[in-house]
Parts: sequence; structure tokens; C-alpha cells
Amino acid sequence: MTRVYQSSLVALTVSVAAHFVPRWVPEAVAVVDLAVNKGQPQHLVSGVIYGIPDDTDQIPDKFYTEAGLHWFRAGGAQMGAPNRGWSWSEMEQRWESTLSNYRTARKYGGKFQLLLHDLWGTDFTDESRTWPGDNGDWSDYDQFLNVIVQRIIDNDMIPGMHIDIWNEPEWGFWKRPQAQWLDLFGHFDDSVIIQCWANSRLLAPRCLCPQMPPTPGGPTSWLTLQPITQLLTTIPGTILRLSTTPIMTCKIVSLPLEKLREAAGAPKKLININEYLNLGDELNPAATVWHLSRFERYNVPGLRANWRGGDNGSHLRDFLASLLWRDDKSLPYHPNGDWQALKYYATNMTGYRAGTTGSSDRLFDAYATVGQDKVRVLTGVRVKTGTWALTIKNLGAAGLPSSGQMAIQTWGFTYKIPEAELAALTDRGVAMHQYSNDEITIAIYQTEEDWKTAWAFKLNPV
Ligand SMILES: *[C@@H]1O[C@H](CO)[C@@H](O)[C@H](O)[C@H]1NC(C)=O
Ligand SMILES: *[C@@H]1O[C@H](CO)[C@@H](O)[C@H](O)[C@H]1NC(C)=O
Repeated sequence: MTRVYQSSLVALTVSVAAHFVPRWVPEAVAVVDLAVNKGQPQHLVSGVIYGIPDDTDQIPDKFYTEAGLHWFRAGGAQMGAPNRGWSWSEMEQRWESTLSNYRTARKYGGKFQLLLHDLWGTDFTDESRTWPGDNGDWSDYDQFLNVIVQRIIDNDMIPGMHIDIWNEPEWGFWKRPQAQWLDLFGHFDDSVIIQCWANSRLLAPRCLCPQMPPTPGGPTSWLTLQPITQLLTTIPGTILRLSTTPIMTCKIVSLPLEKLREAAGAPKKLININEYLNLGDELNPAATVWHLSRFERYNVPGLRANWRGGDNGSHLRDFLASLLWRDDKSLPYHPNGDWQALKYYATNMTGYRAGTTGSSDRLFDAYATVGQDKVRVLTGVRVKTGTWALTIKNLGAAGLPSSGQMAIQTWGFTYKIPEAELAALTDRGVAMHQYSNDEITIAIYQTEEDWKTAWAFKLNPV
């Protein structure tokens, strides 16, 4: 059971006798404003990190197309010897995997983020190895860049290409001083590189991790660091790339970031959060929808994190970042609740995007569209049990009566574990609601049974 109109709570409480239905607190209310038109949906979070098998066509087309996947990101990570990357003189299979993944991305018209640090091989490299620019010698790194650039040209990989310069140095993917890492950005200043990537984009510079929030003057006020500001200034296609792993949110990231950028005199850039969702409790539709609601609010694209590993990275490079599963290769792939939620988001939520405000407890959020026929809302709680509420206001702006009776259809995107199939969204029925004042409020019950469930609602005036 997921929703009950506020005014019918009394009746419900009576009908379920002993079961007390808890009411929501004011901090638990998210609002959809149908009078706000945020433009056409672009499915900003329909993206995955890795998840594409090296064998093209291994995953059937529909799993890409119906979920609307259009952002991809790879570089052959987690392959063991003899494929540990450039720094081990073992780059070939990583490159082949990257090229294959790029071609798969393009097959679906997708954009591709190429992970240089994975081709280079940071996942198998520690302090004892040689790093780019050691002892002031950049010749090896420059050669690495030249090889990659030439291969990008030779393989016609410019369309949709985005270059991710170096991933998350502060998490351990950089074992040298920060100054040396900053020097690395200078090596993208070369006119050849800029020319050949004139139609592609550079993703710079790094993760913003919860340990180091982007506070002005804080340890990660990297926008004030001259090489990065210069890169942003000189290369028009640079995008600010961020990771929100594991607890950052768009608001926390993007607002202070904009202040920092302005203070540094760096030009305004697109932002791309190319890793979202935490490993812990967040692999499920409730968290997926909570995140996508916020990304849509701030107009920021997001790519779904991927926590699969597997022998030689075989699971990392499969299952579309935990959207699909199969127990072994003789079986067909099946989707889980997360894939079903993304499918609904990409294919059913048409029209214009309405305005939204998340609950002030920051645990509940919504994404809404107004199509020719219907108002549709997708909601997610950030994986907690309890009662929240959704207010949909300015109904008249969507051509709905300002009072009367509304039939609300509810579907659930349920989830237990990433491997469990959800063949279709679950139909939770239609409930009738009295409403007035051009708005309607419904309760969202995140019970023990449904704490990972996201909900879709469709409004039908009676
Ligand atoms: C690891 O994966 C790569 C790419 O699929 C493959 O070429 C290589 O043979 C694999 N290595 C092992 C040890 O399975
Ligand atoms: C989603 O859209 C498809 C294609 O128009 C339609 O067949 C399906 O019934 C819709 N699903 C829901 C739950 O509205």
C-alpha cells in the first residue's frame, strides 16, 4: 500500500482497525509544481559506467534502447596480467575493450567517456611504479597521449568522444604529490591535441569526495589552481566532471562549485557527474529515483556507478552497471527493478518536465512530466522506512480541474537484490482521491517490505 489521500486517512484507519497509519511530518513533503515548465525530458541520468561486454551484441539491443542509455564510460579497467595497462607495457586488451565499448555506445547514438587512467593502468599500480612526470620526465606520458590520440583518429572515434583526464586522484588513483598531478593538465595544452579533439570534450578535473567538499579555500578548491583554470579557459569543450560517490548530492556539489568557479575567473562549464549511487544500500530503484529527481532538478547529467568486479573485471564489463543479470552465459539476460524504473523514466515520462522541490529532510524526491494525456510522477526515498507525502500543485496549469475527484494509478518498482528479476512494474491499483484548491496530496508509505521500492503515479481526473 503506497498512497492515501490525506482526507481519507480517517476512513482508512478505521477500515484497517488495529493498524495505525503514521502521518508524515512537514519536513517529509516533496512538491511537484505543474505550472513550471522545465522543457523536454533528456533523460539526464540514463548513463552507465562500464557494464558493456567486450563482445559486441552480447546484451540485446532492447536493454540499451528501452532504458534510453546514452552516456557511457570505460577504459578497460580491472584486467589482470598480461593486461594491466600502459604503465606495465600491457595496454592492448584494455584498448581493444575500450574501442569495442565505444562502438557499442555509438551503436545506440551514445556519448562515450574514455578513461585515460584505466588505459594507463592505475588499478594495478602502486607507489613503487613509475608515474606520469616522475623526476620531471613526462616523455612516457606524452607518448601515451600521442598513441591514444592517434588511435582515436585512426579508428574514427571522434563522434561522441569525451576524454576523462584522470579519475579520482585523492582516492588512491594518484600516488604522487598534487603538484605533479597538476602538471599533467599542462600536457593537454598541446595544439595537436586541442585540434584533434576540437569536436570532442575533455572531462576535467577530478572527483569531489565527501572527505573534501568543494568549500572555498578548502583543500579541494582546485578551481583556483592555475593549470586547471587555464585548461577550462583555453579548451572550449571542457566539462567539469565530478563524482558524487558516495554521499554528495547535486546541490552540495554544484552550488559551491559555481561560486568557486566564479571566484577563480574560470568560464562557466557544463557539469557531468559521472558516478552516482553508493555501494551500500543504494543499489535499488528507491535510491535511483531519488538521485535522478535531483539531477533533473539541477539539469545535470549523471552516470550510474558500477560496483561489479568479477574475475578479470568480467562482471564490471557486463550487466549494464547492475541493471541486468543472468546466472550463467547459457541463460538470457533479465532486467531488475532499477532497469524497469529507468525504462519508465525514458519511455513513459513524456511531455514537459514540471518543477519539483525535494522534501526538506532531504530523503524524498520526485520527478514529474506533463504529457498530452497524463501527469506522471516518479518518486524515490533515499532508502529509509517511514511515511512521506507528495503534493502536486497548480493542477490547472496542466489542464486538470482545480477540485473534484482524481483517480491515481500507482505502480511499484520493487527490488530485493541486483540479481532478482523484475519482469514488469507491479500494478498497485487505482485509488480515488477528493481534492480542492488546485492541488492534491498523497502519502507515500515506505514499509519494511517496500523500503527499496520506487513509485510511479499517473493522474486521471474523474
Ligand atoms: C581478461 O579479459 C580480457 C578482455 O576480455 C581478455 O582478453 C583476457 O584474456 C582476460 N584474461 C584472463 C586471464 O581471463
Ligand atoms: C509506457 O509506454 C508504453 C509505450 O507507449 C506503453 O505500452 C506502456 O503501457 C506504458 N506503461 C505505463 C505503465 O504507462
